[in-house]
Amino acid sequence: MGNIRNFSIIAHIDHGKSTLADRLLEITGTIKKENLSPQHLDQLDLERERGITIKLAPVTMIYKGFTLNLIDTPGHVDFSYEVSRSLAAVEGAVLLVDATKGIEAQTLGNFLLAKNQNLKIIPVINKIDLPNAQVEEVEKQLVETAGFQKSQIYKASAKTGEGVEKLLGKIIEIVPHPSGKEEKPFRALIFDSFYDQFKGVIAYVRVFDGKIKKGEKVEFFGVGKSVTAESLGQFAPSLVERGTLRAGEIGWIATGLKNVEYVRVGDTITRLDKKAEPILGYKETKPFVFAGVFPVDRDEFPALKDALEKLKLNDAALHYEAENSPVLGFGVRAGFLGLLHMEIVQERLEREFDLDLILTSPTVPYRLVKTNGEKLEISNPSSFPSSPVIKEIKEPWVKGSIVSLQNYYGPISQLLYDHRAAITDAEYFGDKVRVLVQLPLAEIVSSFYDKLKTVSSGFASFDYEIGEFKSIDAVKLDILVAGESVDALSQIVVKDKAYKTGKALVERLKDVIPRQNFEVSLQAAISGKIIAAEKIPTFRKDVTAKLYGGDRTRKDKLLKKQKKGKSRMKMVGKVLIPQEAFLSVLKI
Ligand code: GTP
Repeated sequence: MGNIRNFSIIAHIDHGKSTLADRLLEITGTIKKENLSPQHLDQLDLERERGITIKLAPVTMIYKGFTLNLIDTPGHVDFSYEVSRSLAAVEGAVLLVDATKGIEAQTLGNFLLAKNQNLKIIPVINKIDLPNAQVEEVEKQLVETAGFQKSQIYKASAKTGEGVEKLLGKIIEIVPHPSGKEEKPFRALIFDSFYDQFKGVIAYVRVFDGKIKKGEKVEFFGVGKSVTAESLGQFAPSLVERGTLRAGEIGWIATGLKNVEYVRVGDTITRLDKKAEPILGYKETKPFVFAGVFPVDRDEFPALKDALEKLKLNDAALHYEAENSPVLGFGVRAGFLGLLHMEIVQERLEREFDLDLILTSPTVPYRLVKTNGEKLEISNPSSFPSSPVIKEIKEPWVKGSIVSLQNYYGPISQLLYDHRAAITDAEYFGDKVRVLVQLPLAEIVSSFYDKLKTVSSGFASFDYEIGEFKSIDAVKLDILVAGESVDALSQIVVKDKAYKTGKALVERLKDVIPRQNFEVSLQAAISGKIIAAEKIPTFRKDVTAKLYGGDRTRKDKLLKKQKKGKSRMKMVGKVLIPQEAFLSVLKI
């Protein structure tokens, strides 16, 4: 065990974790340079294209007689629970900071997670090859916020490889080796899982004590399910089989299960015949952002259900249940960890399963107490009961932090005020400020994040965790199109802002719903009372009108193009409503 080092790389999004991992794979000879595609550990196509890490990809590297287990972690706030679990599986962390950007919200969020787990942390300023690198300023920030000594801070370029070999030496020198006991009963922490068509669900594990052999029976503590360890091994980074996994090691166990449901991140695996104490910190991830997902073409509902079932095999955080909307037809109400998770699921459904979908605007779950004492949780505005029977409504709040250059503090605090946020503290370091805030999650799932980027000219970053539920004085806002109430457009809004929101919403809908061959009325209503109205005048768009002569192919081409433009539209009554309309509330 003395020769094992388990570590992670933590950073704000885009600061270079995956690129650094590539250099480590190359230097240790784990993957030959000619076989290395950029961001090698980002496996999904989508990750490559967007340049973000969604799934953790662990890898075992052998270097100068040492076994180095690296877990690359996702950098986005939606996946912070996965970050915290992978940190529980290691003894050290490389804290990477982009020399051109400096410390950002998730740099600090992840640093604090690592510090609380007593990890040995090595701060590294990355991208020093760039001409606009501000190494001294970032050094100052690291000293002032995290309390590092200047002499502890490394400088590197994950791109050119400068300083990376030296960093590898430092990891071996200062990250402690694991300290479990092989004689003790077997216990391992699950930090990820993956569905393999042939092996079933594979649990990614860190063994803390004891050992496990192929064919032995194991139990998942939190969910109380037992299975046979059909095969096991390490990551190189592909799955390499071995006979045994021992205390201190990181590897995988194939369960033969057909569903990731039982193999939960953060859960403990023990041997069925010799149970051990569970590892602390397991919690079930709950979805906090909900949206309706409907096929554009009603006949595609079975295909949508099928696709969701397949995606869920590999994504335990995805929840959904069937929904029948009066205007949009059959679809599902889906629950996600956050907005990015939602976008990823949508993109995968459309891309991997070739579906055309309409998504309704995301909402948070509301906890209601009725006048008769009954309690319920509602995540779909259209199923909100009428106001007289509601005694209290509570909504989820978050604890967040914003890191920005100091000169944007003014506009940021104004924005926070507009979004019902309370500033609890502000800390200054270098030329930056970190503002600690509390605000309703509903504000974040609407337009807050985009506006934060705008008012700070892109210089502010944001990190948050779900806090407690707090009371809200809210009402349901209904939207009527051509006199017909469209359930998928209804919203839960703050009572004081209801008039303003209703007005803005119908104005926005007027812009995004195309003119039809009759006049369309748009109305916003609360409890049946109209509070705002607009009209879309008649217009019949004939794309071929401008074409003279009988060039049939040209005409066909144009008609085809127009048809394609319509594919993300849904017929609601007599009116064709585009996808954008359903997400209008995000733009006001
Ligand atoms: P997430 O996984 O999405 O959090 O991103 P990441 O932290 O893994 O960042 P990634 O490695 O994808 O790098 C982001 C961008 O920065 C890519 O375009 C890299 O090529 C670039 N990059 C990373 N390290 C360096 C570096 O040292 N120098 C330069 N010039 N560019 C770098």
